[in-house]
Amino acid sequence: MKLSTLSTRGTEAMLALMAVAVAAYAFLAYALQPAGAQVGEAMQEVYRLNPIVIHTHAFAAGLALLLGPWQFSTRLRTRRPQVHRWIGRVYLVAGIVVGGVSGLLLSRLAQGGWVAQLGFACLAVVWLYTGYRGYRAIRRGERAQHRRWMLRNHALTLAAVSLRIYIPLFLANGVPFQEAYPVIAWMCWVPHLVIAQWWLNRGRPVDTHALPTMPR
Ligand code: HEM
Repeated sequence: MKLSTLSTRGTEAMLALMAVAVAAYAFLAYALQPAGAQVGEAMQEVYRLNPIVIHTHAFAAGLALLLGPWQFSTRLRTRRPQVHRWIGRVYLVAGIVVGGVSGLLLSRLAQGGWVAQLGFACLAVVWLYTGYRGYRAIRRGERAQHRRWMLRNHALTLAAVSLRIYIPLFLANGVPFQEAYPVIAWMCWVPHLVIAQWWLNRGRPVDTHALPTMPR
């Protein structure tokens, strides 16, 4: 096996592991504890007043984070295309649509002022849009385009991981939360989109044979 393949697989495995860890946090923290038990007081107060939207968001977006990594497995797509399709439907409907709309509603209530709120709102809109484009592409039988849009979409799903890495990093470096959060609300997803686009532009031929078509 080539070194570059090994390092790509290592990176994918690491990202999948971090995604599962953050999804597990969302499920456990919001199923077993009062809403916002693990976050600061101001956030906790907002979640206490809006329990439905925060629980819906934590579970739906957590599901997207948990399901997303499996969709990029060539083995799953070629050997079990039906499983890929079903995971994809749940990912898009329960994860992206429900997680994205609830994320958009939450963005109005987010900490960090209007800059943070705008950052989260834009993330929600781009998340929903890339999911829609991925769905539209596969309904039209455009497998290469479907793969490209879903890669962008999943890069955005991983914002939840970066966010939870940046917060303690900023705090550990002495940046107060209210100053750090507006920056993090953008930093957690814009670079992901840039990296995903760079990855797609690298000129590697797209493995369209490994992608199943959706039944019409
Ligand atoms: C990618 C689109 C997403 C958007 C636009 C979004 C938006 C938001 C917003 C605005 C908040 C409230 C922040 C605040 O109160 O200051 C929030 C909180 C939260 N989000 Fe998301 N989110 C997204 C993805 C995810 C994903 C993939 C997960 C998966 C675990 C997730 C899990 C949570 C949780 C658990 C909270 C509550 C805060 C905490 O306990 O850490 N979100 N989200």
